[in-house]
Amino acid sequence: MKVSIESRRVPVWDLPVRAFHWALLACVAVAAATGFLFPANWLSVHIWAGAGVGALILARLVWGVTGTTYARFANFTLSPAAVIAHLKDITAGRMHREGGHNPLGAWMVVTLLAVLLALVASGAVLLGGLFKQGPGKGFLSFATGDLMREPHELLAWALLALVAAHVAGMAFESWRSGENLARAMVTGDKADGFVPAARAFTARRGLAAALVGIGGAALMWAGLTANALPPKGVPQVVADGTWQKECGDCHMAFHPTLLPAASWARIMTSLDDHFGEDASLPADKVTAIAAFLAANSAETSDSFAANRLRRLNAERPLEITQTPYWTRRHGDIADAVFKAAPINSRQNCAACHGDAASGTFAPQSISIPKETTK
Ligand code: HEC
Ligand code: HEC
Repeated sequence: MKVSIESRRVPVWDLPVRAFHWALLACVAVAAATGFLFPANWLSVHIWAGAGVGALILARLVWGVTGTTYARFANFTLSPAAVIAHLKDITAGRMHREGGHNPLGAWMVVTLLAVLLALVASGAVLLGGLFKQGPGKGFLSFATGDLMREPHELLAWALLALVAAHVAGMAFESWRSGENLARAMVTGDKADGFVPAARAFTARRGLAAALVGIGGAALMWAGLTANALPPKGVPQVVADGTWQKECGDCHMAFHPTLLPAASWARIMTSLDDHFGEDASLPADKVTAIAAFLAANSAETSDSFAANRLRRLNAERPLEITQTPYWTRRHGDIADAVFKAAPINSRQNCAACHGDAASGTFAPQSISIPKETTK
């Protein structure tokens, strides 16, 4: 029996299915590593891996209706009756070798694709709303992006569980059938003697190429167009010369969106006792700076930093570095790192945030200068 099974190999998984499978695995691995393990400034790699997942799945959906026999979704046995029959086979110790996915395997593939698509979609909403990046930035609010934070994370954990179950199921079926299913996804063939798919299909390559080409180009165009929109709720702040000069003298001029108007007002009316320093200014300059800060305070911006730093420390409402969010996000950084050159103080945001002057504080722009990390 074994001899005849080994004797003839029959093609099952076509090249696009196999390429999709392994490219998807690579993208998911990179997205998972950068999402779960790596620091925030790996966000760009995470985004590209996620975009890769999205593109691969769309291409796979096309191939599922244009590909060869076992690539077609029409041959996925998803009916409850088939699932029950398959479970009965397992419990009875009966082997019913399939050319394509067995019913549980087919459900696993569909669930994996659905969870991955939901991850990509929630990620795009997060990115657009929270960080005002990507195609959603022109029409998603911070609050909307924030709503997707927990679902995105839960989906990511669900994905890890599904991947584990997928690998376990594959190993189990390989053991039961004597057919190395992981190898079949590499070589594309299985030993003869399986039950063939219900319907045979030949690939419609021209149609697939047209759908992927036209659909891809349309999506790319839509994405780039949306990406060029101004960020929703984040008006451009035109720096005021007096503010920049007078408030950037002892420390960097903190972006006006980093504190609410009430805090700025209190700072501007107590400059003679400014955190123990005398930072007094002539009345006309005080008026001009106070007006600039009030007109561009945290309330006027839906940016990530403005939203995150909005909750003040009630005892010390004038300090950005005393807000609960700031202390939490910088809690892992040792005091000595802040004190060493070239950072010198917690107030020197720009030393570690390349985009601090614009008030953006994007994850990609975070980098603690090397000299201090030795
Ligand atoms: C004479 C020097 C000096 C000038 C000029 C000055 N500051 Fe300051 N500022 C300080 C010092 C010192 C601190 C406290 C830093 C610390 O906690 O180590 C501070 C802290 C701050 C903080 C709190 C920073 C934090 O830790 O979150 C804000 C906000 C601030 N200044 C705003 C302003 C504004 C607005 C102006 C312009 C009107 C200004 N400063 C001008 C010296 C100055
Ligand atoms: C010693 C370098 C350093 C300094 C100085 C510093 N930060 Fe940060 N900041 C970081 C690091 C590192 C992170 C990311 C921490 C993490 O991954 O949880 C961060 C995170 C943040 C975040 C979240 C950003 C995001 O995209 O997730 C904000 C907002 C922020 N910092 C604001 C500030 C402000 C405002 C100042 C100045 C008052 C400041 N930081 C000073 C290193 C610094």
